[in-house]
Amino acid sequence: MLAAVGSAVGLANIWRFPYVLGTNGGAAFLLVYLICLFLIGFPVFVAEVFMGSLAKRGPYGAFALFGRSAKWAKAGLLIVLTGFVISAFYSVVAGWILAYFFESLRFSIGHFHSKENCLNYFEALMQSPLKLIFFHGLFLSFSLFVLLGGVQKGIERASRWMMPLLFVLLFVLVLKGLSLPGASLALDFLFKPDWESLTGSSVLLALGQAFFTLSLGQGTMMTYGSYLEEKETIISTSLPVLFVDTLISIFSGIAVFTIVFSSGMEASAGPGLIFQTLPLVFSQMTGGAVLMLLFFLLVCIAALSSEISALEPMIAFLVDEMGFKRRKASIWTCLGSFLLGIPCALAFNLWEEISVWGMNVFECISFLTTSIFVPLGGLLSVVLLAYVWGMRRALNKLLERSKRSNIIVYLYLYICIKYLAPIFILCIFVHSLMNP
Ligand code: PHE
Repeated sequence: MLAAVGSAVGLANIWRFPYVLGTNGGAAFLLVYLICLFLIGFPVFVAEVFMGSLAKRGPYGAFALFGRSAKWAKAGLLIVLTGFVISAFYSVVAGWILAYFFESLRFSIGHFHSKENCLNYFEALMQSPLKLIFFHGLFLSFSLFVLLGGVQKGIERASRWMMPLLFVLLFVLVLKGLSLPGASLALDFLFKPDWESLTGSSVLLALGQAFFTLSLGQGTMMTYGSYLEEKETIISTSLPVLFVDTLISIFSGIAVFTIVFSSGMEASAGPGLIFQTLPLVFSQMTGGAVLMLLFFLLVCIAALSSEISALEPMIAFLVDEMGFKRRKASIWTCLGSFLLGIPCALAFNLWEEISVWGMNVFECISFLTTSIFVPLGGLLSVVLLAYVWGMRRALNKLLERSKRSNIIVYLYLYICIKYLAPIFILCIFVHSLMNP
């Protein structure tokens, strides 16, 4: 469970959630996102963990076993590849966090004193391909280091106290944010829906975000499920993940938007949003230099446990299906992820001009993975489980191991996994194809 929380809580909560919310109109998006989480994200989460735990293999092996055909195994491979691509662009963003962490090590955050300074600092970082590639590589080296040392001893032990600390720190930021003059505007933005601002593509984004934040649709939870012990029940292992993950996202939203509205920044700034807001408020707090250091350190750790989990399906695939030694598989996977991340880093500077469907390379990879391939991976998993393998058989097996096995849970999972998830995902796909 701890590893799953570590995987789920990461940049999707602290970095992506506020900026996607900011570019999609706030509260209305939040509501759609919560509905997606409850009706689709969580049931798919349970389905994926179940499939992994029953097959005792990652997506490729599990799909081959449940689907009993080479076609399904190939679908499993697609899921493994999606995770691999995610690990590349994820590491580029984690590199930005690392850069801010090193900046805060200097304990001189005076240059973040105004909104313009914050914007300029972020811009300067984005304009430097060397820095971006360096920090991306450094972050992947840390990931490789932990992967080689073993997940349990390193990352799990660290997460045990790092995660609560991150939570406390975010809470301090929320309290500080609420004391700022823009607080009520921010709360309105976050909790008073303006339905006009909601478009079909924001529903797709909300679904993608729900999947991305729970690390679904790209093999992580299936692979982690395969490591679950027989005695552990799937639902009670999964619920805390959903709860902690959602709380951290909402806290991040409050912290970021109270600062945005009190300093007159743009809510729709995009991927740079947290980098342009949080340092500003740190620079105005007593002890802000230390808090900033601690904050970026903890976010680095949260990103590290997520990055490792994004790399894990590919490593498991190379070990289980291709006969690699774990050490070699980890090195090759990290190297591949590094190379793939380079175009994402260049998208902000040297390759700025290149645009695909109106997006730069980074946005395009991020969109294709999180909004298309991740929901597709989830769709394939539920279709395989519910229609090929058999929904009743699956639920009986799943609830056999659960202490919370009552009729409501049964019906909720049955309806959501068998009907709502596939239909909803399909509708959103069709809609987004018709309104690109
Ligand atoms: N859930 C992670 C986060 O919130 C991102 C992630 C996606 C990690 C997919 C692994 C796999 O940051």
